[in-house]
Amino acid sequence: MVLETARLLLRPLEARDLDGLIQIFSDPVAMRHYPSTKTREEGAAWLLWCQGLAPVGLHAAVLKADGAFVGQCGLVPQTVDGKDELEIGYLLLQAHWGKGLASEAAMAWRDHGFSLGRTRLISLIDPANTPSIRVAERVGMTLDHETAKWGKRLLVYAIAQEP
Ligand SMILES: CC(C)(COP(=O)(O)OP(=O)(O)OC[C@H]1O[C@@H](n2cnc3c(N)ncnc32)[C@H](O)[C@@H]1OP(=O)(O)O)[C@@H](O)C(=O)NCCC(=O)NCCS
Repeated sequence: MVLETARLLLRPLEARDLDGLIQIFSDPVAMRHYPSTKTREEGAAWLLWCQGLAPVGLHAAVLKADGAFVGQCGLVPQTVDGKDELEIGYLLLQAHWGKGLASEAAMAWRDHGFSLGRTRLISLIDPANTPSIRVAERVGMTLDHETAKWGKRLLVYAIAQEP
């Protein structure tokens, strides 16, 4: 399953994306709101986990212009406060921040999530992750509540659509 936006193709992650993923996972700035950076081995395991979530899961975001890998974005099943939720997740290479690409990809996944019949989509965000909060707001999400997950306090941003 491939989604297309003005500047991006959003396609399933492939083994050839590992180098790009590792550029994100080994960057302490990109990973500052995660427990730690990831090794190549951990990145390879992550890639397999994402592929196993098909037809959802984080997908590669590549530029239509030249096929360059810019990051990952997609829909990730999560359990939050005992409830099954579908999260829009996004992680981009630092070189591609500040261009509106994360929001462009996230909006495509929002529309796709609703087209699957989901009535609510969320993003789980560290309160200090202002760029991520801005993406959630551009997608049309608002702060729903706070929760504790993965041993930390997280904001649950959400958007709902009537069935
Ligand atoms: C979260 C993350 C994806 C946000 O990336 P981003 O590039 O800031 O987000 P966007 O793609 O929405 O880009 C928005 C910025 O691009 C600018 N921009 C430039 N050209 C633009 C365009 N054509 N369209 C829209 N925005 C544009 C906007 O002004 C905005 O800048 P501002 O926030 O300073 O006002 C990025 O910081 C990241 O990958 N972080 C590491 C992983 C992470 O924390 N993920 C979230 C976990 S919850």
